[in-house]
Amino acid sequence: MTLMAVQGLRKAHGERLLLEIDALMLVRGATYLLLGENGAGKTTLLRILAGLEQAQSGAFVFDGVRYDRAVERARLAPRMIYLHQHSYLFHTSVIANIEYGLKLRGVPGRERLELVRKEMEWAGISHLADVPPQKLSGGEKQRVALARARVLKPELLLLDEPTANLDDVAREQVADLIRQMRDANNCVLIATHDRDLMTLEGAIRLSLESSRLRIG
Ligand SMILES: Nc1ncnc2c1ncn2[C@@H]1O[C@H](COP(=O)(O)OP(=O)(O)OP(=O)(O)O)[C@@H](O)[C@H]1O
Ligand SMILES: [Mg+2]
Repeated sequence: MTLMAVQGLRKAHGERLLLEIDALMLVRGATYLLLGENGAGKTTLLRILAGLEQAQSGAFVFDGVRYDRAVERARLAPRMIYLHQHSYLFHTSVIANIEYGLKLRGVPGRERLELVRKEMEWAGISHLADVPPQKLSGGEKQRVALARARVLKPELLLLDEPTANLDDVAREQVADLIRQMRDANNCVLIATHDRDLMTLEGAIRLSLESSRLRIG
């Protein structure tokens, strides 16, 4: 049931203690909302989980195996994917961006394109196939990044302010993606200030306050 378990996570910047989390359990099929004011450490926590940042201490178990070093956790991609609020896209093409992970996985070309086409349709970006990624609007980029993550079917998806740049249709799609992830027994952890996402049915609230994580 438990997909990721963290114990004794401590992160400080010099004198300033940012995170002191005794225990965090992320369960398959659950959705978590990570709440807290600006600067509370939400992005930092997501980045630490994804192995993009080192903590001073902490034990990290993913699917029953220890990955205490950040570099080890980073290698868990695409089983665990972190989606940055301002996603970085390769300057290739929209299709190349979305199919990149599938290519690494060795999915054959024809099947790849079929999957990519489906994701582009889902994300409402089929008409953008020929636009250079760096010319896309913020929300369009975010849609490409969501499609790129979704196509890989991660077991743990870490979303950092996923709706910040999105219009109403796309926001509803994000909510939809989260429900689909849950229905497929995967896990989503979302850092957000978005009141709409906070009403997601069944979501478990985690609040970061004074470096501590409070559940509920
Ligand atoms: N290298 C550093 N040295 C000192 N302080 C740092 C450093 N890096 C980050 N911080 C601080 O750590 C805090 C946590 O930032 P973080 O981005 O995790 O917050 P957040 O909860 O995601 O906020 P927001 O809601 O604004 O996205 C911030 O106050 C930031 O200034
Ligand atoms: Mg943040």
